[in-house]
Formats: sequence, structure tokens, C-alpha cells
Amino acid sequence: MYSKLLSAFAEIFGSRPEAVASAPGRLEILGNHTDYNEGVVLSCAVDQRTSVAMRKTGNEQAVIYDLRAQSQAVVDLSDLSCRIRPKWASYPAGVVSELRKRNIKVGGFEAVIDSNVPLSAGMSSSAAFETAVLFGLQKLYSLEIPPAESARIGQGVENNFLGLKTGLLDQFSSIFGVKDSFILSDFRTVEVLETVSMQSTASILVVNSMEKHNLVDSEYNSRRAACESAAAKLAARHKEVRTLRDVSTELLKSEKNILSDEEFRRALHVTGECERVMQAVALLKNNDLRAFGQLWWDSHESSRVNFENSTPALDKLIELSHQLPGALGARLSGGGFGGISIHLVENDKLDDYQQAIAQSYQEFARVTPECIICHPGAGAQIM
Ligand code: GLA
Repeated sequence: MYSKLLSAFAEIFGSRPEAVASAPGRLEILGNHTDYNEGVVLSCAVDQRTSVAMRKTGNEQAVIYDLRAQSQAVVDLSDLSCRIRPKWASYPAGVVSELRKRNIKVGGFEAVIDSNVPLSAGMSSSAAFETAVLFGLQKLYSLEIPPAESARIGQGVENNFLGLKTGLLDQFSSIFGVKDSFILSDFRTVEVLETVSMQSTASILVVNSMEKHNLVDSEYNSRRAACESAAAKLAARHKEVRTLRDVSTELLKSEKNILSDEEFRRALHVTGECERVMQAVALLKNNDLRAFGQLWWDSHESSRVNFENSTPALDKLIELSHQLPGALGARLSGGGFGGISIHLVENDKLDDYQQAIAQSYQEFARVTPECIICHPGAGAQIM
């Protein structure tokens, strides 16, 4: 990808870049919608990455060429209050805006980006984009931003620039990802607690439902609001409770009658997910992939029934997984409301599994699902 990026930069801007950076997409393995409840998540960065080559220009303009979309954007950085067009340019513009809010001065630049992270699927192509640009700017302007703060800057782009109240998971995983490992992250202390690896007898297969999930238009923010109102009601009666992170499923069930049915089910998903994450880490250490995979199925069922962030298409993919030889578990991954499912599959059945699920899903949805075998990859880098 780098040689293509460098030659494209030379061709488009007639010079060499001064910074090259790249950042991966991520997979949420377990811990759905727990991040903004200050809970725990098991995730990984993936091999699919977004790369950027950049050069300072000394003016107030960002000229960005996206190789994948074959589209160019020119953004006036002296006025970031107006609507940015094309829309994808909001990501780099948002990064500049978040840096300036922190009194970090950055000016104009030329950039070429390229990416093989699937778009709008639930693999965090936007976090990869924000993080790659941020790391590129750090190199261009010799900035030393602590990695957790870099994740907050990317999150700020989503929260403040795009109006989406997402948590820190995507940018955090893109930055802290470790090759060949899952990371267990704590979103209260905002740190990686430990890395865990998975036995090599099974693989992670991403099966994209091909339903674009668009979180801005989705119910993401309302899910978050329900979690927060449930937490507030529980906090009023239990002084140790600040967020759903502090609530066990047992405590939640004992207080069911002070919550609305909706609040109860949303919260039940979150407390269950936090518990499944910790169980998963213990199971991985014991090489118990069967029980680990069962947690994926349990997680999906909770998404379907409690959090209601699944779709008929995603449910179909999970239903199919239950019938296929070699299946150890499957679930939706990421925000939900479309996008990808992840499947844990025994290696010797992987080819057949992939073929069978693609064919059955095609018959159901009249669209061929994109299937990607994913490996945990390294986090963001400045080259
Ligand atoms: C999206 C958000 C994350 C997280 C997941 C669900 O990816 O960006 O912050 O909330 O959904 O776990």
C-alpha cells in the first residue's frame, strides 16, 4: 500500500510526503455498547488499514485525495464551522478542529489516503481514518500526544463534529491494537488491562450483511440515553453506582421494578456483556474455544432481545451459523443496526463454512455477503 501511496502523492502533488502514517480498523470481539457505560471490552485491531501520506503547505487549506473513492476534497481550515463537503472530508477537518480546541496549532496540508477497511460495515473505517490523519499530523507538527488522548481526539470528531455520541472503543482499539492478540480494555480507567491470544485452531470470519449501518441515522444515541437513565435511577438508590459498569446483573434484576421495561432490557445487555467479557478472558486462557464461542451466541441473543440493535439480516446470519459444521459461535459486532457479523470457525471447516454461509445468505437477502478472514493486527503507526 505504501508504494502506491507514495507514487500517487508524487503524481498528484508533484513532491514527496513529509509524513506517512497508518491506522487499522477494529473488531469488537465481546462487550457490545459497554464502552460508554465505562465497562470492559475485548477487541482487536485488524490487518485492514487506512494509510495517509501528508505534507505541510504553510497555508490554511487541506487538500486531500482519497484513492479508494477517487475523490478530492479541499477544506478551508480557517472556517470549520460550515458544512464540510464531500462528507468524508469531515473526518480530517474534525481532527484539526479537535486539535485546535486543545490549543494545538496545525495548519494546511496536502494528503493522499488509501484504505482497505470496509466502509460503513462496523469495522471502524472512520476511526482508522481519523487516527491515521491524527498520527500523520503528529509527525508533521512534531506533536507528542499521549495515545489515550489521541483516542479522545478521534472520539471528539464523532461526538462534536458528526453528532454521534459514540464511546472510545473504536479509536482506542485502532491505537492500542496488538498483533496476534485481543486487548482487554477498561473504559473507566481508559487503559488496556491485558492482552490475550486465541488458540490457532479457529479463525474469525467476518460476514458482512451488506446492510450499511449508519449510526448517525440510527438509534445509537437513544440506546445510550436509555443506559444513562437506567444508571441514574440505580445510582439514586445505590451509592456505589455511577454508571452501568458498577451494576451486576444480579443487582439489576433485584431493582427491575424501578426501571421501565426498555431501560431494564438495555441495561441487562450491558451488564451481561461486561460479565461475558471477563468470562471470555478466563476461557481463552484455558483454551476453551467452545465455551468462548457460546458467549458470542449469547451476546447476539442479548442484542436481539434486549438491546434491539440487530436486524433480520444479521439474525439470519447468526441463525445460519447454528446449523453449520465447524461453527463455535457468532454475533453482530460493533454498533449494530446492520453491518457485520463475526463467526468463530474451526480452521479445517473454514472454507466450507464460508461457501455455505455465503450461498444461504445470498438466497435469503439476494446479495452476496462480503466474507473476510480477520487476524488481529498491530495498532496505528507513524512510518
Ligand atoms: C460503535 C461505537 C463504539 C461502541 C460500539 C458498540 O462502534 O463507535 O464506541 O459503542 O459501537 O460497542
